[in-house]
Amino acid sequence: MMAFDVEVIRKDFPILKRKMNGKTLAYLDNAATTQKPHSVLDAMNDYYKERNANIHRGAYTLSQESTDAYETARKNVASFIGAKPEEIIFTKNATEALNLVANVTCEAAPRGSSVLLTQMEHHSNIVPWQLNAKKNSQRLKYVKVRSNGTLCNEDVDEFLAASPHIFSFTHVSNVLGTINDAKTFCRKAKKAGALACVDAAQSVPHMKVNVKEMDCDFLAFSGHKMLGPTGIGVLYMKKELQMRLPPFLGGGDMIKQVSFEQSTWNDPPYKYEAGTQNVAGAVGLSAAVDYLRGVGLQNIAAHEKKLAQVCRKELSSIKGVKFYGPKNGSGIISFNVGKIHAHDAGEFANRDGIAIRAGHHCAMPLMKLLDVPATCRASFYLYNTEEEVERLATAMKKAQRALG
Ligand SMILES: Cc1ncc(COP(=O)(O)O)c(C=O)c1O
Repeated sequence: MMAFDVEVIRKDFPILKRKMNGKTLAYLDNAATTQKPHSVLDAMNDYYKERNANIHRGAYTLSQESTDAYETARKNVASFIGAKPEEIIFTKNATEALNLVANVTCEAAPRGSSVLLTQMEHHSNIVPWQLNAKKNSQRLKYVKVRSNGTLCNEDVDEFLAASPHIFSFTHVSNVLGTINDAKTFCRKAKKAGALACVDAAQSVPHMKVNVKEMDCDFLAFSGHKMLGPTGIGVLYMKKELQMRLPPFLGGGDMIKQVSFEQSTWNDPPYKYEAGTQNVAGAVGLSAAVDYLRGVGLQNIAAHEKKLAQVCRKELSSIKGVKFYGPKNGSGIISFNVGKIHAHDAGEFANRDGIAIRAGHHCAMPLMKLLDVPATCRASFYLYNTEEEVERLATAMKKAQRALG
């Protein structure tokens, strides 16, 4: 693990040199997607230049090399979250991973049963359940969010007592930055006879996650939110469940035998990887995992926490600022400046070269609960600096003076 030096880290990310509206780019939208270091870009480029071929199919050496690159990436991603390689299913993104879980678990569960979610979910952990629960005559229930931005534990106990077939919840809220106690939720789900699915899109990139310690049944995340490329995501799924549950997508590679009448399924994890896979994406994600390991997730988490504290302090001095979410959350700060619309505040930041997110953050039901159409969201990562946070505060002060 190298010593944590943000200026050294920044040199690895070519995009951070860009100017935006005449100012150096301050990229503070890492909950949406992250920037890529040279090592990730080079790994993908090298793959296409040197080893590109379809995997698991060719008897020739190049295909073997490509297969090795893909399977090595699987092993690397597995060890990053404490899983076995066969428990790692590559998907397009966290959204596809959650659709997979919703599809196969709702199909296997009895009609009339229920699915437990929470009110702080991203649309990708709501809509797939709406689609599949409806198809299978099942109901959805939601654990309440309290006014301090944390989940209501009494609801968790009460709703689990009604025996849902699965409890699917986010580890870290992409709006509030709330860090949920995933280990306890998984233990409670298991005790109630429910499966546990963790949306780890905002946790795996930022903190040490170990699926065995957590004892979840499923865990989903996206490569592009952790310095990797777009188009590659991960679903951790216990092997026993892969054996027992039905397939998701059908096609090449996910079968053992096919006749005109019926088919039999390949072994885990191939049963859930139909068609030609995103090999370059897996290679890029593996390089991203190496990069994060090199810096150290503990260092990254501590750095983001410090930036979040500075951000809260700096923004607090602005008249009318309101924060959404607990003080001890992750490196995500959601806020509004008085009655100024988040889009207008976001535009003031943009003029100063600062990229923050302004909108509903794909969490419309949560926005309704918060009683706002939108919030501004600054989300930090390993390459952000205190100076960038101060620039954001300055831009918000300008917005307040002009529109407040
Ligand atoms: C908590 C959470 N879950 C799921 C997703 C979906 O990720 P993707 O769009 O990469 O599938 C996001 C994206 O912002 C997220 O923040």
